[in-house]
This record gives sequence, C-alpha cells and structure tokens, in this order.
Amino acid sequence: MSWGERTDLVFQLRFEAVNTVGPTSPDCVGAQLGKNEPMTTMAMFSAKPYDRRSFDAANSAVADGAQVDIHYHESRLDRATAAYASGADVVCAFVNDDLSADVLEVLATSGTRCIALRCAGFNNVDLGAAERLGLVVVRVPSYSPNAVAEHTLALMLTLNRKIHRAHNRVRDRNFSLDGLVGFDMAGKTAAVIGTGQIGAIVARLLWHLRCEVVAFDPVVNQGLVDLGVRYVSLDEAFAVGDIITLNCPLNEHTHHLVDAMSIAKMKRGVMLVNTGRGALVDTAAVLDALKSEHIGSLALDVYEEEGGLFFEDRSDEILDDDNFARLLTYPNVLITAHQAFLTHEALAAIAETTLSNVLTVLADEVCDNAVVAG
Ligand code: NAI
Repeated sequence: MSWGERTDLVFQLRFEAVNTVGPTSPDCVGAQLGKNEPMTTMAMFSAKPYDRRSFDAANSAVADGAQVDIHYHESRLDRATAAYASGADVVCAFVNDDLSADVLEVLATSGTRCIALRCAGFNNVDLGAAERLGLVVVRVPSYSPNAVAEHTLALMLTLNRKIHRAHNRVRDRNFSLDGLVGFDMAGKTAAVIGTGQIGAIVARLLWHLRCEVVAFDPVVNQGLVDLGVRYVSLDEAFAVGDIITLNCPLNEHTHHLVDAMSIAKMKRGVMLVNTGRGALVDTAAVLDALKSEHIGSLALDVYEEEGGLFFEDRSDEILDDDNFARLLTYPNVLITAHQAFLTHEALAAIAETTLSNVLTVLADEVCDNAVVAG
C-alpha cells in the first residue's frame, strides 16, 4: 500500500491525531498526503502535546524542502497499532513503545526504514531483529543530562525533607511539624551507581552539598576522581551509601541490580533513588524491605511495570497493579511518572537531534547516533 493510496488509514490517522493529541492546526496530519511526491514521512507514537510543540518548532527550523512530514499518534506502539505507521519512512518511538521483533517485522514489511528513538535508553528495542530486517535504529544519546540529574536531586531533597507532605499539610492549614524530620545531606555518604553523563552530574551536585560521594561504574570518570569522588566496588557502594542513586542503563547485567540480596548489603534506613530504568529494581524485594524498614525511603521516577501506567491520566481508573498500589501507601515513598527528562531545553534538544538523525539516515549517510546489536 503506497503512502498516497491509504485513504482509510489516513482517515483513521487524522481522526486519532485530531482527537487525541490536543489542539491541532489546519495543516496537521494528512496535509501532505495530497501531494504527488511526499517528503520524508515519520509516524510518531506515544506523542503528547509537548512532543508536538517541540517537534513542530524544530521541524520548522529545518532547511526549506528538508522538513519531515510528521504524523502524531497518541497511541503506544505495539502489535495492534503498528499499522498506523504503514508507509512511513520513519517510526519515532519513546521509552514504553514496544519495539520487539514482531512489531519491527510489521514496520519493516510496510516500508519503514528507520526507527528513531526520542530517548537515550534502547532497552525496549530488539536490536538483533532490527538489524536482520534492515532497520536503522537511532537514538538521542544526550539531550539534557542536567534535566535528569537535577530531578534526581529534587527527588532526594523532597523525600528527605518531606516537602511533598509539608506542602499538603500547609494547604490544609495543618502547621504541625511532627513526622517531618529529615537529615542533613552534608556529611552523608552518597553512592552513585553509573557515572555516565547523568550520574556524573548527580555526583557533582551531591559533592557540592558536601556529601561524601562514592561511585560504582566499570568506566572511571577521572574528573570525578579529581573532585574527590571515590570509585568502589558495587558491594561497597551498596554497603556504605546512606543514599544510593541508580543512574546506569538497563541491560542484562543491571536487570534487578537492586534485589533482596543487594538490599541485604545496604545500611538499614538507606534512601534509594531510581531515575534510571524501572527494572533496575526488583519491586517485590523493595516492598519487603520498606515493610521491614530496611529501606528507609524510596524515590522513583521509573517503575518496572510503568508501560501500562505512566504518561496517561488514569485518575478515573481502578489501579490493578498491586505492587504499585502498595508503593503508593507508604509515606516514605515518592514517585514521579518518568518526568526527569521533562524540561523545555531537553524537549528542544530531543526534537532537534531526532530530526537530524532521521535526515542523516534517509540521506544514506552514517549517523553517529545509530545503535547496533551487540
Ligand atoms: P550514559 O551512557 O552516559 O552513562 C551510563 C553509565 O552507566 C556509563 O558510564 C556506563 O559505564 C555505566 N554502566 C554501565 N553498566 C553499568 C553497571 N553494571 N553498573 C554501573 N554502571 C554501569 O547514560 P546517561 O545519559 O547517563 O543515562 C543513564 C540512564 O538514565 C539511561 O540509560 C536511561 O536508562 C536513564 N535515563 C532516564 C531518564 C528519565 O527521564 N528518568 C532520561 C534519560 C535517561
């Protein structure tokens, strides 16, 4: 099916975009479809109004004639929705889109050549299958490590000083301070697991708060060592941290990095912060440790089973994830719904890099941001 022939699907796309992504301009989805020679077409999944704003702005800054025809779909990409991308040169996906082999197969068969991830992590892509199908996978390795690092610090400080609870109390004219006692960050040992772009900034921020900072990463960052950060083994990092922050990627080595065994090595009362990926943490083990008070407090921006939860308003729905529901009952658990990346600067950088990646790949040039299997 050619791009110009897809009348039924086009109607479906227009309907979905107009009805799910929010206010749209008259030249939204489908505006290019009447032309004889369509420009590069990109189907974006899990698209939110803020994605649309940043991509439209970045696209309008691209040189005349090289702009991409972007079709926004609020749906997550999966086996059922993959057909929405039929005929699109590029599929643009986010963290919880399903890019497993069978979905990639549908995309490749219907003409897609490039998978453009508008995120850094690529744990949701079957890279082997992509390679086999001739799909080039590109990502945005760095957009604003500051955004994620600052959010990580915001979670720590909020959780420690119980700002979220204090805010609710004051709004309720409850000015009691009972139960709001925190601790000085200065002098505490903070263990940073993963000192790449984000973790390195987290380590520096914590150092400036006068924490003693230890780190675990297979790759040592000499700049951090010069600052006074001490690289230790993973076991030592778990053992000495009053605060442990996870800033490493999710892969076969880091899946459930925090489980019952590693928690047993941690100090009683430890603060655990995860802004990396949900499955770095075994949620059931963490729940047990919260109950036994071995973990003193927990902040999450990511959750193992966030795929069916995050990025949507579910306030009218019954929450059927028992582990998540239990987490919400703890006063010492603070959760944000994968928003650490969400700053104006990061969104602009994501859109610019994604469009540049796409145009490079479709020009048959080598893209530095391509991700390969292995
Ligand atoms: P990066 O690639 O710059 O750094 C990752 C670091 O982790 C590297 O230094 C690497 O050597 C290290 N590492 C690899 N395996 C490790 C292991 N087993 N133990 C400890 N360290 C290990 O990546 P960046 O930009 O710092 O991002 C880190 C992670 O943060 C991403 O993979 C992604 O999952 C997550 N992230 C979360 C966001 C959010 O909104 N919550 C936004 C962006 C990234």
